[in-house]
Amino acid sequence: MSEPWSPVSWQKKPAKQQVVYPDCEVLERVLGELTRLPPLVTSWEVETLKGQLAEAARGRRFLLQGGDCSETFDDCRPDPIAAKLKILLKMSFVLVYGCEKQVIRVGRFAGQYAKPRSAETETRDGVTLPSYRGNCINRPGFTEADRTPDPQLLLRGYERSCLTLNFIRGLVDGGFADLHHPEQWDLDFVNHASHPDEYRRVIESIGNSVRFMETMAGRPLDELTRVEFFTSHEGLHLDYEQAQTRRVPRRTGWYNLNAHLPWIGDRTRAIDGAHVEYFRGIANPIGCKVGPSMTPEELVELVEVLNPANQPGRLTLIHRFGVDQIEQHLPPLIEAVRRAGKVVLWCCDPMHGNTVTTASGIKTRSFDDILGELNRAFDVHHHVGSILGGVHFELTGENVTECTGGARGLTEEDLELAYKSDVDPRLNYEQALETALLVARRMSRARKSPLPPGEG
Ligand code: PEP
Ligand code: CO
Repeated sequence: MSEPWSPVSWQKKPAKQQVVYPDCEVLERVLGELTRLPPLVTSWEVETLKGQLAEAARGRRFLLQGGDCSETFDDCRPDPIAAKLKILLKMSFVLVYGCEKQVIRVGRFAGQYAKPRSAETETRDGVTLPSYRGNCINRPGFTEADRTPDPQLLLRGYERSCLTLNFIRGLVDGGFADLHHPEQWDLDFVNHASHPDEYRRVIESIGNSVRFMETMAGRPLDELTRVEFFTSHEGLHLDYEQAQTRRVPRRTGWYNLNAHLPWIGDRTRAIDGAHVEYFRGIANPIGCKVGPSMTPEELVELVEVLNPANQPGRLTLIHRFGVDQIEQHLPPLIEAVRRAGKVVLWCCDPMHGNTVTTASGIKTRSFDDILGELNRAFDVHHHVGSILGGVHFELTGENVTECTGGARGLTEEDLELAYKSDVDPRLNYEQALETALLVARRMSRARKSPLPPGEG
């Protein structure tokens, strides 16, 4: 890693999960165009987020990151975007209640279009085609034309990201007045949930606080607090990320202006690989997924490469082990990072280690496993004296049936009712809100009884 960094230095390293385009000339033309188009986000927003993540690493804020596993061009419509924003906002209110800290809201949106895949190809009825890799690379249909990577889709992805972000910025600036009032939240499911009375108390309490503040101020709450949303996606397609990697006036360094918080996936975090090379040089706060194959030595080396100056807020480690593996894998990693004197923000992704395939071949996750991993994450951090400073979910604001369980007790048979994801299963509106209520419950209990669970 001693070679100097530049936005193209990753090209000399082995890059996993990259796309082979049949026509390089078209790709070059598209990338040239992307290089000239305006950025999606600004460096001052990126720096604001970094400052907030630094506070989260010290336990003064809490990160909520969530959205689709894979956004689709079809879903770049007002309703799904507004629904996603609304569920994240409601979850954030519930989490504020639980942890009594400001919550940083980061969407997996406005650019989450490229996916890593476990197999290069997919075979159906004897026909083998390239795997589907997300809407900015190829199409989910199963024909040769659908699966051939098309560089124009990168431009379509950039444009969809702009359209999504433009709408989000508009909604965040002007709308949402009603959302501060939980009466509008569609909370029927609470009656079926595991702790209905407690949830009703939480929700009532949020409503009372809002009314109190509005009465004090003499005007609606949305005029008092401008909600902030930041964007994030997996920085997988390095040509695409490079095209938006820019210098900006009066700041040093290079910014990836495709998203505020790009992250490295668990499959592309090889220390000598192209993704780590690209990410080490950008000035953004960055995330890195950490799965069961990570060793403590490797993690310390990776943290050193990605954050040599030990800048607070620079690096968020998003651990995703699965409910059965977290207790074994997480403690030595936390210990190693601490021993190395490194500041990181620890965030739990309870989705990606808990994916299972049903007998009929549907990819799903159980609500109990997701909750189980989250609870264990809180326990582990608590026991070793570390801080779990954030959570990372795959969710949608709609009524899909992709994960089993939750207050309505969705079964494997129910999955076919409204399974829409082309890639990973997401929590639906009710499951997402219930998760936030359970996390808030957990955090508020921890505040009241500081001893480790089981010892208080
Ligand atoms: C994802 O976040 O959709 C993903 C592929 O995660 P991971 O890199 O943790 O497997
Ligand atoms: Co996913």
